[in-house]
Amino acid sequence: MTTPSLTAVPVLIIGTGIMGAGIAQVSVQAGHTVLLYDAREGAATEAKAKLGQTFTMLVDKGKLSADKASAMLDKVQAIHDLSEAKTAGLAIEAIVENLAVKRSLFQQLEGIVSPECVLATNTSSISVTAIANGLKHPERLVGMHFFNPVPLMKLVEVVSGLQTQKAIAEAIFELSQSWGKTPVYARSTPGFIVNRIARPFYAETLALLHEHALRPVVADACLRAVGFRMGPCELMDLIGHDTNFSVTRSVYEANFYDKRYVPSLVQAELVDGGLLGRKTGQGFYDYRETALKPSIAEYVAAPMPTAQDVTVMGQGRVADLLARRLKDLQINFTQLEDADWIGIDLDGAQLRLTDGRTATQLGKQVAVFDLPLSDAPASALAWAISGRANREWQDKAQQCLQALGFNAQQVADTPGLLVARTIAMLINEAADAVQQQVCTPEGADAAMKLGVNYPAGPFEWLAQWDSQSVVRLLNALDQHYRGERYRVSPWLVQQQYLHGLME
Ligand code: NAI
Repeated sequence: MTTPSLTAVPVLIIGTGIMGAGIAQVSVQAGHTVLLYDAREGAATEAKAKLGQTFTMLVDKGKLSADKASAMLDKVQAIHDLSEAKTAGLAIEAIVENLAVKRSLFQQLEGIVSPECVLATNTSSISVTAIANGLKHPERLVGMHFFNPVPLMKLVEVVSGLQTQKAIAEAIFELSQSWGKTPVYARSTPGFIVNRIARPFYAETLALLHEHALRPVVADACLRAVGFRMGPCELMDLIGHDTNFSVTRSVYEANFYDKRYVPSLVQAELVDGGLLGRKTGQGFYDYRETALKPSIAEYVAAPMPTAQDVTVMGQGRVADLLARRLKDLQINFTQLEDADWIGIDLDGAQLRLTDGRTATQLGKQVAVFDLPLSDAPASALAWAISGRANREWQDKAQQCLQALGFNAQQVADTPGLLVARTIAMLINEAADAVQQQVCTPEGADAAMKLGVNYPAGPFEWLAQWDSQSVVRLLNALDQHYRGERYRVSPWLVQQQYLHGLME
């Protein structure tokens, strides 16, 4: 089968809620005739009226001419019965997230639209293979997963089920491009790309909160410091804990209760208590008017603690950053490039970049600090002290990090601290997705940057860090927690051999 062109076909949108309305806007702006249908009486007409308001707003802002706006609106038709949709060349479903309801809708559609009409589902979590089961032509059903808000978010996951024809997925890929989107191919597996790879972003913070290792405000500040637009706690509060928890649960259950995806009791408790986040006024944070907003301490500059011998240990990006900052402070130091750890040695006391082991495991006068992914001065950085260290080194380690320009945030002595373990787990999940041919590394990077605004893709982080350190860190976490959760992706292990890091 050759790839059918969908760029000029009438588009039928079923379900005109948040997503359907957004998809309607994008498709009519791309020049399609659009048919809107919703099971709720009057909803399609309301959606058309809202679209009219959006266009008026764009006209007022000078982003659209009045003529164009009215021509586009004329191309949108609210229909009251699916039988009026015979002319559709593409049907996109954005109805309730329920397998039985979606299946029966597509079965009904098969009796209405032409055999050439492509059927697309915007499901965010249901298997495309399962939705297609029972169709006369399951090969023409494909996932077309948009992100909210549709007109602004660039990503479209083009999801193939077991029976989806390649040419159909290609047609949706090309169409998405012509709509100004960045499509990425995905295989229909739980969570597809984004909702799967993103799980550790929430899960690692929740795991640390479960251990009372840090406060939500510290977690948010440290992850914002490396470029995430929002920290995990504020983001979960925004999404709603009920929604976020149900996605986590569905990925966990769909993976036959693989411990890698186990949901968190911390979040379950928030859901049970009705503390769903912004929408209920309380979640990790209190949004009620009288509530005090928690914050982390402001950055305070400090002089470098006096020391006889200062040595920068190791080499690479972090060692170079430390060396650069010591130079700026006009501190005399030597560098031991072939050291087996990265950090600074101050008269025998060690300030080490986390390698996944706790400071307590590593020795007495030891402090560990998190992965500083950003070079920006005064950015928040988690650190921890060995339970065996004396008081003097505890004070000095904090002071040293401040002198080096970090807004040092002391947290409990946990393996991999926060940023390092979160990024390592995001990389690990992405590596598994690639191993299972859910997506390509480039696809994973694009999906995470465009679907959830990550500052970099997991494979870009991997290139910046290195696979050996990531594997070491994950193995240390695995050793510490003993379970399936931190098992290293076989793809990452293979990379070690491929790049000669392991013999
Ligand atoms: P919504 O609740 O805003 O809209 C759903 C619409 O579908 C409603 O207007 C409802 O009346 C209509 N509907 C329900 N059952 C129907 C049926 N059998 N036939 C015709 N119309 C029916 O929901 P939303 O958020 O727009 O989600 C729709 C779909 O998109 C779901 O599958 C969801 O998982 C998916 N999705 C949602 C995202 C989001 O951020 N809200 C992101 C990506 C995908």
